[in-house]
Amino acid sequence: MKVILGVCGGIAAYKAAELLRELQRRGATVQVVMTANAERFVTPLTFAALSGSQVMTSLWQTTHSEASIADGEDFDIEHIQITQNADVLVVAPATANMLAKMAHGFADDFLSATVLAATIPIIVAPAMNLHMWEHPATQANLKTLQQRGVQIVSPESGELACGMVGAGRLAEPGAIADRVFATSGRTKDLVGETILITAGGTRELIDPVRFIGNRSSGKMGVALAHAALERGARVILVGASLAVPTPPGCESIRVTTAEEMESIVLGRLTEASMVIMAAAVSDYRVACPAPEKLKKKNSLTLELLPTRDILRQVVEQRHAGTIVIGFAAETENVLEEGRRKLRAKGADLIVANDVSYADSGFEADVNEGILISQDVELPLPRGSKREMADRILDWTRLRQSRT
Ligand code: CTP
Repeated sequence: MKVILGVCGGIAAYKAAELLRELQRRGATVQVVMTANAERFVTPLTFAALSGSQVMTSLWQTTHSEASIADGEDFDIEHIQITQNADVLVVAPATANMLAKMAHGFADDFLSATVLAATIPIIVAPAMNLHMWEHPATQANLKTLQQRGVQIVSPESGELACGMVGAGRLAEPGAIADRVFATSGRTKDLVGETILITAGGTRELIDPVRFIGNRSSGKMGVALAHAALERGARVILVGASLAVPTPPGCESIRVTTAEEMESIVLGRLTEASMVIMAAAVSDYRVACPAPEKLKKKNSLTLELLPTRDILRQVVEQRHAGTIVIGFAAETENVLEEGRRKLRAKGADLIVANDVSYADSGFEADVNEGILISQDVELPLPRGSKREMADRILDWTRLRQSRT
């Protein structure tokens, strides 16, 4: 396995040397990239000696001579080429400045340009002063990165270099290495699979400007798409209303209504080896949406008609062997409702989650729930939607290994 280790300028830069050794002990080859500020804390020579390869520090650095380039010899653009041969990119320590650059797409040095060019999984392990860590700008940047699929190894609490006590200390090298190997170890276990994922909340039009919708943000479906792509699957993402961007690398199809989602999902079903229905699909549609904006009156009565159940149709029309997973977002009797939906819809797995908590479920970045299949009921402890996505995909591997 090949890891790119990006080192930023902070007092914790010396710990990157320990991380490098830990990654090597576990069998990884490591290519180090340093920022100019990192070089003030640790010399590139240290990392070159430990890694056994040239440390990349500048966009103007090349392993080719000017003469050979002038002679027309083929040469690689280093910050693009190095990610093509690597499995994971880990930035440790990641400073507040680097997180800001990553969140906003800056590419003004070798490391930020490498991050921008990377299509491999990215992990960041931040380390900084407590106030910088807690600053809304840093937290917003982290959130943006997380929504794009970047994994965060959160800093630990303790005594910081500045003398303060609190969160901001680089996570232990062992914990960062665990995440690197957990990510890369399953990077390619879904190669050959085509996964059709629905995400977000459908909207049923009342008139050209109003709709009936729901609180789904699409974060769970998008997290599933990120995880599936990183593990090598081809992903078709059918997204209704989404509060987060769709990942690069998937085929993204946008829909508005339940009927549009039904038509796309059933139309693409033959291509899919797995279908994951994470979308919150409206159970009703407006019988006759008004062609023009409705004017205010004393009262308004809308006739609502039931929509067709897409999940049930997917189960009926699938090829033998296509795994079908549904979601059940509940506010009470989560387990019973999940079991009922498993039977009623005929899915292979229902991911039941409690959406009555304010800080998890709808719109939140964390979730918790229960995986319910015919032979196993597996609690999913509270964690990021990305972690939950990986647990769901792990279940599909387990199921395929049994059949
Ligand atoms: N679903 C679907 N088509 C619908 C409604 C729901 O495919 N018209 C799917 C959802 O994507 C989800 C699962 O069915 O994977 C369960 O959705 P949920 O809204 O929890 O269940 P409903 O069947 O709508 O039942 P109820 O509203 O009574 O809870």
